[in-house]
Amino acid sequence: MTFSTLKTQLKALPCGKKLNHSVYITEESLEKVDTILYKFVADLKTRADVDSEYNIVKFFTNEFKISFLSYPGFFEEPHPELKKSLTLNIATGKIKKFSYHKSLNPPILHRKEFFLHPDHPQIKLYSMLTLEEESHGLYENTKTIGFKLNWEKLLKEKGLSYKGHQLIKSEKIDLPITDKDPIVDRHKTAISRYNFSKPVQTILEYNLLEDTESFFDYGCGLGDDLRGLESMGYSCSGWDPVHRQEEKKISSDVVNVGFVLNVIENPEERIEVLHDAYNLTKKLLVVTTLLTNDNTSLNSNPFKDGYLTSRNTFQKYYEQAELQQFIEDTLNTSAFPAAPGVFYIFKDPVAGQSFLANRSRRKIDWESISLKLYPDRAERKRIEVDQLIEQNEELVKLFWDTMVELGRIPLPEEFKQMNELTEKVMSAKKLRTIFIDRYGADTIKEAYDMQKNDLLVYLALSNFKKRVPLKHLLEGESIPLAPNPLSRAA
Ligand SMILES: C[S@@+](CC[C@H](N)C(=O)[O-])C[C@H]1O[C@@H](n2cnc3c(N)ncnc32)[C@H](O)[C@@H]1O
Repeated sequence: MTFSTLKTQLKALPCGKKLNHSVYITEESLEKVDTILYKFVADLKTRADVDSEYNIVKFFTNEFKISFLSYPGFFEEPHPELKKSLTLNIATGKIKKFSYHKSLNPPILHRKEFFLHPDHPQIKLYSMLTLEEESHGLYENTKTIGFKLNWEKLLKEKGLSYKGHQLIKSEKIDLPITDKDPIVDRHKTAISRYNFSKPVQTILEYNLLEDTESFFDYGCGLGDDLRGLESMGYSCSGWDPVHRQEEKKISSDVVNVGFVLNVIENPEERIEVLHDAYNLTKKLLVVTTLLTNDNTSLNSNPFKDGYLTSRNTFQKYYEQAELQQFIEDTLNTSAFPAAPGVFYIFKDPVAGQSFLANRSRRKIDWESISLKLYPDRAERKRIEVDQLIEQNEELVKLFWDTMVELGRIPLPEEFKQMNELTEKVMSAKKLRTIFIDRYGADTIKEAYDMQKNDLLVYLALSNFKKRVPLKHLLEGESIPLAPNPLSRAA
């Protein structure tokens, strides 16, 4: 079946929930109302190895794509939750699976009667619920209600809840202060930048901001990206709830939401922010978050779906696929990866496809640009770093001594003050770079070579006896350490 035939078939369907760019229907209803479409879907299911837990089909009408969705509570719950999805790009054959089992705020369904064929026995029950919900104004703003927590928040505000498929009055809850105001110090996450942020770099590298186009920075923090772009002659503006509250949110060609979603501890608010930013976008929305890495939980306590740091800031670390799915579920359109943690959402879906097909990236020397844009910054940063190291001299020296002894960055179990170091000074990696700047790379390399030789000798000797248990090497047991060049210098 071609894409245009599919769209014609979908238009003619007597049921199914029809949205701007998609049509949803239960599989059993599809079988009853359109056998051609049902067979087409059955073939795709076999091709993509889709199991029987997927009970709803989502057709995309702006891309040749189909999703199989699993709502196990479809008939029991008034607003069933999505448990997993499988999306097949029919044109390319590419399959994307996603499980919502860890999500605090999964997508939910409304108006279930639309998903069923007209003779279904439950239609009356579901339609009555919808009418009741409409009469309480629950569908006045449909942008964000498609997610569990956003819907629950609305119900609480209206003093409503459910008994089976009946809407009932419950105590009206004025949301506690903590639900309205962040209990974490979000503003502390804004940093001074010495270079353009990653998303802004990609926008310029991909040539996506023309001289005549406007740029808006949503959650701009201290505004360094804006200052840099302004000095390059771009027309830009930005807003931040803490650092630039007085500014207006201005509809612009390119809108950037850089490292904002990941500092918001309320999952329902992330959805509101993403919609708000998308509404301001004329051409391209750029969304960036931190990604999960090895240091994700360092110095942090689990909180909601992320971590509270020792500075009382929140961080939600996304997986690349999770962020893409989150954006696509929220905005119901495709998000294209531009770099790790950076996604592009084009207002015009054709522009998205052509970005994919023709993307070419300019090479830009960011180092020299940042020196031109912020000439005094590099020096200021150097002084700040020197001061920080001076204030924590003992700890830093101990770390460098250990690093030189080992010939590499110590593992956390080899340097027990690692957390303190990261918290008070900076990451081990950055301190290594500073060490190399000051003392040269040879010092560590020398120690590394000696360490390697010692290890080889140790292994060779042990071979005469018996196999060396790995534990011995990990514990460093009886491995002679290389002399410390720092102590020699002292
Ligand atoms: C890590 S900073 C990023 C700042 C800037 N985008 C950058 O890349 O340098 C996160 C910013 O998000 C802002 N923020 C927090 N909650 C927000 C919300 N609901 N809407 C918009 N911005 C928010 C904070 O005030 C903070 O300045």
